[in-house]
Amino acid sequence: MPDFYPLARQLLWRVQPETAHKIALWTLRAGLGFLASGERMGTVDHPALAQSLWGLNFRNPVGIAAGFDKDALAFDALLRFGFGAVEVGTVTPRQQSGNLKPRLFRLDQDKAIINRMGFPSAGLDTVLKRIARHKRSNGILGINLGKNLSSKDAAADYIEGIRLTAGLADYLVINISSPNTPGLRELQRREPLRLLMKELIDTRDRVSSNTPLLIKIAPDLSNQESYEVADVALDLGIDGIVISNTTVERPTSLKSPEAEEQGGLSGPQLFETSTVLLSEIYRLTSGRIPLIGVGGISSAEDAYTKIRAGASLVQVHSSLIFNGLSLVAKIKAGILRLLSKDGFSRITDAIGVDHIDSISNGFRRQGVAVAPHFSNTGSGLEYIHGAQDKDCSDHRWRQGIQSGLRQGLSAHRDGRTAGREVG
Ligand SMILES: Cc1cc2nc3c(=O)[nH]c(=O)nc-3n(C[C@H](O)[C@H](O)[C@H](O)COP(=O)(O)O)c2cc1C
Repeated sequence: MPDFYPLARQLLWRVQPETAHKIALWTLRAGLGFLASGERMGTVDHPALAQSLWGLNFRNPVGIAAGFDKDALAFDALLRFGFGAVEVGTVTPRQQSGNLKPRLFRLDQDKAIINRMGFPSAGLDTVLKRIARHKRSNGILGINLGKNLSSKDAAADYIEGIRLTAGLADYLVINISSPNTPGLRELQRREPLRLLMKELIDTRDRVSSNTPLLIKIAPDLSNQESYEVADVALDLGIDGIVISNTTVERPTSLKSPEAEEQGGLSGPQLFETSTVLLSEIYRLTSGRIPLIGVGGISSAEDAYTKIRAGASLVQVHSSLIFNGLSLVAKIKAGILRLLSKDGFSRITDAIGVDHIDSISNGFRRQGVAVAPHFSNTGSGLEYIHGAQDKDCSDHRWRQGIQSGLRQGLSAHRDGRTAGREVG
C-alpha cells in the first residue's frame, strides 16, 4: 500500500496543529492508521537491530519520544508500526489542562516545532487504565512522569507516579527538563538532583526494584551542569539518561515567523546541541550509563550519528509530524545499511564508537601530542592509554571532545561517515 501521509498531511495542515495531532492519535487508536501511512510496518526486525538493555529486549533502537502520546491513547498502534519502544507522557498525578491555547506551533519553513504545552495530562488514573491493557509482547512501553503545576512538592508527585506505574511500565523517565513548567529545570542542579533522585530510587526499590529509572535532561545545560548531572547519575546509579528535551534557544537560522513564539524548540535545529551533549555525557560517564538520544532526528544518518556518539537507543518526535510514521521503517533500514557499511554486525558494536576515533583526532587538533585511546567494551568505554592524560586539564578534555564531535557532525552533514577522518 502506498504511503498516504503526504495526502493526509494536506488535510491535517488545514486545522490547528494541536487539533491535527489529536485527529492523528484518534485515527491510530481506532485502528485506521494504516490508511494514512501505508502497509503495516511490521514488528519483526533484523536481529542486528536488537539489543538487551536493563533486562528488556528492544527489537530495534528507534522509539517515539514523550509528548507524542501524552495520555496513552495510541501506544499499541504505534508499536505495531514498528517502533522499538513508545514513551507515553508526560503524565502528571492529577488531571490538568496545561497552558492556554494556542501552545503548539509548526515552523513549516524550518520543519521544526515550538511547544509550550505545559503538561496537559489526563492524569495517572486515566493513563493507568489505558496501559493496563498493554501486552508486554507488543513492545516496550516507557512512561514519562511529571509534576502538577499547582504542586508545591515535586518529589511527592514523582513518588506517586513511580508508586502507581512502576509495576506496569517497562521503564520510567523522570522529566526534569521541560521548559514550560516553572522551576522544573532547577531540579537538574547537583544538590536538588541528588536529593530528588535518591528519594525516587528508594521508592522504586521499594515498589518494583526491576523497573529502570531514567532522567530526561535539557539541551541547554552548561558544561558545569552536564558534569554535575553525570556525576550524580554515576554516584546514585541512575539507570539511564534521555538526552534531550526541547531547547529554549532560538538559532538565527530559523526562517518561520512562528520562531518568535515562546516555548521549547524541537526539530533539526536541535540536532547538533543535543548530540554534542549526548556525546559529552557519554564521555563523562565513560559509557557506563545507557543513553537515549533524542533531538532533531529525521533520517537514518541522524539516528546513526547519535548511536555512534553514545546513544544505545534513539527517539523521534517532530520529524514524524512532517514525514509521517513510515519514517520508522526508513530509519531502521538505513541504520542496517550504515552498520554494514562500517563493518559492524550488530547495533551494539556501533554505540559510542566515535569516541574511539573522532575524539582522538579532536585531541590532536587541540595540540595534545599523544591523544588518549579508548575501546568500546560493550558495557562501557574503556580508556586504554594516552601518555599525556595526567597533564590534560578538564578544559582540554572538553575542547578535544567537542572538536572531535563537531568534526564528526559536519562530516555527517557532508555525507561522509562521521568520525573516521585522521587528524
Ligand atoms: C509537541 C511536543 C510535546 C512534547 N511534550 C513532551 C513531554 O510531555 N515530555 C517530555 O519529556 N518531552 C516532551 N517533548 C519533547 C520531545 O520528547 C523531544 O525530547 C523533543 O521534541 C526533541 O525531539 P525531536 O527534535 O525529535 O522532536 C515534546 C515535544 C513536542 C514537539
